[in-house]
This record gives sequence, structure tokens and C-alpha cells, in this order.
Amino acid sequence: MRLDGKVALVTGSSQGIGQGIVLCLAQAGANVVINYRSHPEGAEETLAKVEAIGANCHLACCPQSYGYTLQANLGSVDEIRQLIAESIKHFGKLDILVNNAGIEKHAAFWDVTEADYDAVMNVNLKGVFFATQIFVQHLIETKRTGKIINISSVHEELPFPNFTAYCASKGGMKMLTRNLAVELGALGITINNVAPGAIETPINTKLLNNPEKLGALLQNIPLGRLGQPQDVASLVKFLASAEADYITGSTFFVDGGLLWNYQEQ
Ligand code: BGC
Repeated sequence: MRLDGKVALVTGSSQGIGQGIVLCLAQAGANVVINYRSHPEGAEETLAKVEAIGANCHLACCPQSYGYTLQANLGSVDEIRQLIAESIKHFGKLDILVNNAGIEKHAAFWDVTEADYDAVMNVNLKGVFFATQIFVQHLIETKRTGKIINISSVHEELPFPNFTAYCASKGGMKMLTRNLAVELGALGITINNVAPGAIETPINTKLLNNPEKLGALLQNIPLGRLGQPQDVASLVKFLASAEADYITGSTFFVDGGLLWNYQEQ
């Protein structure tokens, strides 16, 4: 499964799942734009890892991939426009968009502030909407097909008390994907969701440092462990490849069985 000659933009890729996706796509031969909001050092680390893959890649059958870091806040449509324009300027085009950047805020429903609601919705849903729109405009202008992969969550289906804005954003992402699969199909553009469960990343730091909560969560995961970014990234790589050309409008869960694990005590 190779992505040689393809260019991918992975939003929010200075750490966690986004970083794992960048590395997996680069290993498959894609050139990658590494986007970060507030962790330039994480973006540099991701870039160094991409370059290390390149350094090991001296065979003719395995062309070198290149990385490029760009700062942008996905909560701002102006910044998204600039991010995509600069990605295209640097690599000449974009073929794959991975809408990975996402945030969550913990609060009881009755305590959620307007600022926190807006922050979550702007990055997780409005940002995805407009990044996808600007990417599609680029594909139309250059008369090419492309692939969109959204990093959703089990919480596009599963309630998550104290994270209502987050759940609403992921539920919105589910319908955005279904709608666009229909609207973009005639253009040969596919769009799918990858929905992780509990993955060991910085978004989960508090949970990982709380043995009691972590133990309870592990009880709910049939496969008995947290996921790793690589578990998510390998599916993204598949959906970005030509092998997935006939797949659009679907959600794929990567959750160790968490979503369907109801047990009567
Ligand atoms: C959330 C994590 C949570 C996991 C499983 C993810 O979407 O970002 O905070 O632990 O779902 O509930």
C-alpha cells in the first residue's frame, strides 16, 4: 500500500494521533504537511522523524518523502485558508486531507461557557467544514480527485457525560461525512471517518495519570489495552490509498471493542 507522489495535509500533527498519521503516510511515500497550533517543538520532532524515515529510504523502489511544518489554528477560517494555500505553494498540490485537529473541554453541561463551546465547535466542526471546502475547491480547480479522512471519535455515537460540546461536534462530523460522500461522489472525491476510542495521547493526560479512572476504562475495553497512534494511523493510510477507492461515507471504529461493550453486572 504505497502513497508515492501524493501530498497529504494532516491537521494537528505535532503530537498524538496526528503525529502517528504523518509518520505512517511518510513511510508509505507521501509528502506531508505537519500542522501545529501551539507546539512548534512537537512539529519539529515530527519533522525530524519524517526526515529519519527519508534517510533510511535510499532504494529506487522507495522514493524519499518530505515533511514541511506550518502553524495554523484550525478554529480560524482565515488561518485555514492560508494553511492550505501555503501547503499547495510548497508541494505544488494536495491529494489527501486528514482532518485530525481536535480539542475537548471537561465541564458539567450546566457549567459550559460560551467561550469553551465555541472553542470546541470552531476547531472540531467549523474548522473541518471549511478545511474540507477549501481542499475540495483546490481539487476542482486542478481537475483532480482526492481523499478526505476525518478523525472522529467513538463519541460520534457514544454519550460522554461532561463533554457534550465535544460529542455534538463529533456527531456533526458524522453527518458532514455522510452528506459530503453524496455531494462529492460525482467528483471522485471520497470522505470517511476514523473513530478512535481511548488512545494513549496528550488529550488523555489527566486520565492516564489517574489510576482509578484508567482502571475503570480498561475494564470497558474488550481488547484490554489503550490504543496507540499507530493503531489509528494504519487505517488512515489504507483509506488514503488507491485500495480504498470504492469506500466513502463510512465510519470505521478503532477502539478495541469499547463502543459495543455493554455488560450486565
Ligand atoms: C476522547 C478521550 C476519551 C476517549 C474514550 C476520545 O474521543 O478524546 O478523552 O478517553 O474518546 O472515551
